[in-house]
Amino acid sequence: QSIQWFPGHMTRTKRQIEKSLKLVDAVAEIIDARIPVSSRNPVLDKLIQSKPRVILMNKCDMADPAQTARWIAYYKAQGIPAIAIDCKTNKGLNGFIPLVKEVLKDRIAAWQAKGMVCRQIRVMVVGIPNVGKSSLINRLSKGGKANVEDRPGVTRSNQWFSIAKGFELLDTPGVLWPKFEDKEVGEHLAFTGAVKDEVVDTEHLASRLLEVLRDRYADAVKQRYKLGDIDLSELKGYEILEWIGKKRGMLISGGEIDTERASIAVLDEFRGAKMGRITLEAAPAPAGK
Ligand code: G4P
Repeated sequence: QSIQWFPGHMTRTKRQIEKSLKLVDAVAEIIDARIPVSSRNPVLDKLIQSKPRVILMNKCDMADPAQTARWIAYYKAQGIPAIAIDCKTNKGLNGFIPLVKEVLKDRIAAWQAKGMVCRQIRVMVVGIPNVGKSSLINRLSKGGKANVEDRPGVTRSNQWFSIAKGFELLDTPGVLWPKFEDKEVGEHLAFTGAVKDEVVDTEHLASRLLEVLRDRYADAVKQRYKLGDIDLSELKGYEILEWIGKKRGMLISGGEIDTERASIAVLDEFRGAKMGRITLEAAPAPAGK
């Protein structure tokens, strides 16, 4: 799946979210742990305003664990509880309900004080395309859908999923857009495969990725492509790509390096985490450090 975006989506999704917010107690924002900045919607903060929120850093199996831990600390410092999850293997998913209960603890205490012991907890899940929203909902709900018919104010396209006794998830339809207008965001989404390759130049994309990796994960690149004897720091992305093609014996007739093939390999292997666990966007340094 990749991002399909039309201007009309933005307004529609915004309205759907605003409406659905009235039906839930909290929002679970799912992001890609490899690109915690680029995989967030630019106006979500404003949209959900004071609604309690948690962040789920998905695909943590492919992200740098040290960076994930730093991001979690960063969100926590902002008052947003976060956890790392992996919807491929279910890692971390047991922490979801406790996380929501933590962010709602004052409200839950208030409900209990009023004698509302059976009060349902309802959480809306939001995320840009390809972050793993469907995987998360499928994993948590084990395929079971809650009944939507008898609830007032719910449009048919809203889907409720019961994930535990007294706990429901709301999947709001519509495409939650990323920050498209930002060139770096677009690039990072393309690196991870959230944007289709047909709309970008593969060699250019792979060269750009190699430049980012050269600056932050040079050892991972060197190890993967057996470039131990080469000083990457002075090379441009395209030159690294040529080295990779050369080392892999990717040649076209006449002995020229097949950089097109090398670029496909680099992108595929990055997306499959073959170079190791990599986070492209580093967490801000903790305050005072
Ligand atoms: P969406 O609803 O937010 O658009 O995302 P979706 O769940 O469809 O997931 C997008 C892709 O990301 C899927 O791969 C899915 O398997 C993969 N994915 C989701 N969560 C994780 C995770 O925690 N770790 C890893 N490694 N991958 C994850 P796909 O290639 O589109 O499909 P498939 O490989 O599952 O067939």
